[in-house]
Amino acid sequence: MVLVPAKDMLVKARKEGYAVGHFNINNLEWTKAILEAAEEAKSPVILGVSEGAAKYMTGFKTVADMVKAMVESLNITVPVALHLDHGSYEGTKAAIEAGFSSVMFDGSHYPFEENIEKSKEMIALAHEKGLSIECEVGSIGGEEDGVIGTGELADPKECQTMAELGIDFLAAGIGNIHGKYPENWAGLSFETLEEISKVTGGIPLVLHGGSGIPTEQIQKAISLGVAKVNVNTECQLAFAQATREYIEAGNDVKGFDPRKLLNPGFNAIKAMVHTKIDIFGSRNKA
Ligand code: 13P
Repeated sequence: MVLVPAKDMLVKARKEGYAVGHFNINNLEWTKAILEAAEEAKSPVILGVSEGAAKYMTGFKTVADMVKAMVESLNITVPVALHLDHGSYEGTKAAIEAGFSSVMFDGSHYPFEENIEKSKEMIALAHEKGLSIECEVGSIGGEEDGVIGTGELADPKECQTMAELGIDFLAAGIGNIHGKYPENWAGLSFETLEEISKVTGGIPLVLHGGSGIPTEQIQKAISLGVAKVNVNTECQLAFAQATREYIEAGNDVKGFDPRKLLNPGFNAIKAMVHTKIDIFGSRNKA
């Protein structure tokens, strides 16, 4: 199989005390940069796709087919999972049908009982097709209409109930936030993480909002059971800055050549992925 479910790579990561990077993709350049960096580092990798990014790339099938073809044409030998990020009820079903190898169903905005019922349904669908599935308890904070919320803390009892449904890995709020962290951010709650870790039967835990968390906090979270760290914003910022610098240096005066214009951003993402792989400890773990 060209793409693999994320379960085995994350179980191995948790057992051996490192994490696998989940890097969000938005276009061909990002995908190629992440795959090349993972191959160079001999690291397993997870390509995360939000529903918005899938829509931008014209749909789940386009993304699945592009990624499969790219893994083959680049001769990628490390394990690659193509994972739906924060899937809705309908979106998760569609990604499963389109050929993703892993999905996240995010029912955290539903009342807990409804989240459980819908998660059960998605777990059955995903497992029937051999895919891995991540579900979420306790929503992860982030920027909404310019207001940055503090990261929510998940209830360990709810995490236990969710884990017992048979999910492959669990996203739980431990004070983490998507996007930029505010100056007065309290940091990750290791107390909450430890409690969650104790009651979830050893399944790999997922740290969303991986951009901007100090390295020591990420590594401590990994030591307490986190085996998947999601990174999006830092790749976006690196891509934007490299592109801006290229244009500001007057490099676009000869006209618009996307292969030249997008190359600095491509290189910036590649460098970012290498850095993260070293922080997460997954180099040479493929
Ligand atoms: P950041 O954008 O904060 O890196 O978070 C990414 C993420 O958690 C995607 O699910």
